[in-house]
Amino acid sequence: MFQVSGEGMLMVTARAPTNIAVIKYWGKRDESLILPINDSISVTLDPDHLCTTTTVAVSPNFESDRMWLNGKEISLSGGRYQSCLKEIRQQAGDVIDENKGICIKGEDWQKLHVHIASYNNFPTAAGLASSAAGFACLVYALSKLMNVKEQYELSAIARQGSGSACRSLYGGFVKWAMGNDVNGSDSIAIQLARETHWSDLVILIAVVSSHQKEISSTTGMRESVETSELLLQRSQNIVPKRIKQMEEAIRNRDFTTFAKLTSADSNQFHAVCLDTSPPIFYMNNTSHRIINCIERWNQSEGTPQVSYTFDAGPNAVMFAPNRKVASLLLQRLLFYFPPLPGDDLSSFVIGDQSILQEAG
Ligand code: ADP
Ligand code: DP6
Ligand code: CO
Repeated sequence: MFQVSGEGMLMVTARAPTNIAVIKYWGKRDESLILPINDSISVTLDPDHLCTTTTVAVSPNFESDRMWLNGKEISLSGGRYQSCLKEIRQQAGDVIDENKGICIKGEDWQKLHVHIASYNNFPTAAGLASSAAGFACLVYALSKLMNVKEQYELSAIARQGSGSACRSLYGGFVKWAMGNDVNGSDSIAIQLARETHWSDLVILIAVVSSHQKEISSTTGMRESVETSELLLQRSQNIVPKRIKQMEEAIRNRDFTTFAKLTSADSNQFHAVCLDTSPPIFYMNNTSHRIINCIERWNQSEGTPQVSYTFDAGPNAVMFAPNRKVASLLLQRLLFYFPPLPGDDLSSFVIGDQSILQEAG
């Protein structure tokens, strides 16, 4: 059923970027299928900066599916990993290479086990969307290993690992349509514009803290759905309007509208966290100081120079309309958060312990 020379192992390595939502996903209507209560829009980052690298291997000698994340073994028993593995195995095709002595039939994948090793080159579970890059990469790597033909279905499979992961399978600007179907068939990511569409836009990331957050996104949003009235109001009456405005701003490369909506949506998402009982605090003092610094600058100029967004963590993602403004932003940040002696040029300290890097 499975023959291969050498180590008896067949391997695939893939890399996937993270994505940062400018109109946030927060709240599920179906926990196991991971179906959201509103549409969301994100920007996929350049994979040369923040990314996950995952190697998947199969061998007849493997006795069970196993996974190592950043060098430490983790359990695959959770429903999300199981859903992704099951769905990919169902779509698996034949892998036949006579020269290498490999002959795996589609149905053989049900009996073969895989080993997975994944690394994030940025902080895990710290609000920089490691679950998005992680599950997108896992699903993509498995689909290559198992020769899955229908690549367009990968977004819906990655969604079942982590909602935000469905958007990382596309570059540029991506919308995750919440869909209506009870089985989730129309809850998929759609590319709104390629990465080249708005090439002047610069993204800066300030890693304020690389500590693992205390409340995962999954738990946080479940508690918000259960307790926040503001979330209901946001998902029903505010987000649909913002999605339309954001799509238009991206289409027209209208930085002013893009910037206003991005910062407003981030602030509303964190207001929902505060409206949750008990309240959730993802941002810290340094995050608040970054917001103040940008808001003061924008107000003094009368129009947004740059915008900011924070996911479920204290780390800032900032947008500038071009490199000139991005370097002014960097100068301001370095003035307010001076690097410590010994930091190299690509590594500046902000707040307690961190790096500030330019991405994109
Ligand atoms: P983040 O803000 O980083 O997305 P989440 O709370 O949403 O934080 O998700 C963190 C979880 O995502 C981790 O605890 C782990 O279960 C999963 N995860 C992170 N990186 C990877 C990866 N490379 N491969 C698979 N799963 C990952
Ligand atoms: C604040 O996709 O990490 O980053 O679906 O439970 O895995 P699960 O949650 P996740 O939530 C992301 C929330 C967010 C906003 C966003 O990415 O849209
Ligand atoms: Co996440």
